[in-house]
Amino acid sequence: MSGLLRLALTKGRLEAETRALLARAGADVSPLLTPGRRLVHPLPGAGVEAVLAKAPDVITYVEHGVCELGVVGKDTILEQGRSFYEVLDLGFGACRFALAVKRGDDFFGGYGHRRAATKYPRVAANYFAGKGLDVEIIKIEGSVELAPVLGLADAIVDIVETGATLRENGLETVEDICPVSARLIVNVAAMKMKRSAVQDFIALCRKGLEAKA
Ligand code: PRP
Repeated sequence: MSGLLRLALTKGRLEAETRALLARAGADVSPLLTPGRRLVHPLPGAGVEAVLAKAPDVITYVEHGVCELGVVGKDTILEQGRSFYEVLDLGFGACRFALAVKRGDDFFGGYGHRRAATKYPRVAANYFAGKGLDVEIIKIEGSVELAPVLGLADAIVDIVETGATLRENGLETVEDICPVSARLIVNVAAMKMKRSAVQDFIALCRKGLEAKA
């Protein structure tokens, strides 16, 4: 045991942004710059060792307590979050969930059978249930914008960042559902048993956020 807390980082853009945040707070993030094939990276000055993982796995590791801390998008939390503390909105990875259709289509008009494609079936189901709409949900693994283009679905529920993917595929937003950004999450037991170390890391993240402001 290293005695360090373990931080699960979502690979890709959230990892890069977290690295920048911790560097601004004074931590040495150089091990993450040359990761090679190593999967665990102690970060001097941050009190943590980082592991890189896919977003849903970040939540699994934190829920099971093998990682006390995690950085993951609110989109993944809304889709599969169960039990952990969400302690800090890190601000980066900002985008939104939206309902989109082919330009000019009237999704809410009429009473016919409607289908929506999405990578986020739970988010979509909650959204439509909240509106009292009976919509068939079709799970897609990526490039969801194809579904209305190919005629598989009448609409999509997906993440929109710049809007370019919608635009370039002849789609438009009908309604924004909710904003999304990266969150710092904490294992429930660790929040009690390792409170002081967890609070130190939260403070470090706050320092990094303030350094940017
Ligand atoms: C995400 C999302 C949209 C796109 C939105 O896809 O699902 O397709 O980015 O970004 P924009 O509004 O800036 O165009 P991602 O790049 O993760 O790929 P995927 O669809 O294959 O999952």
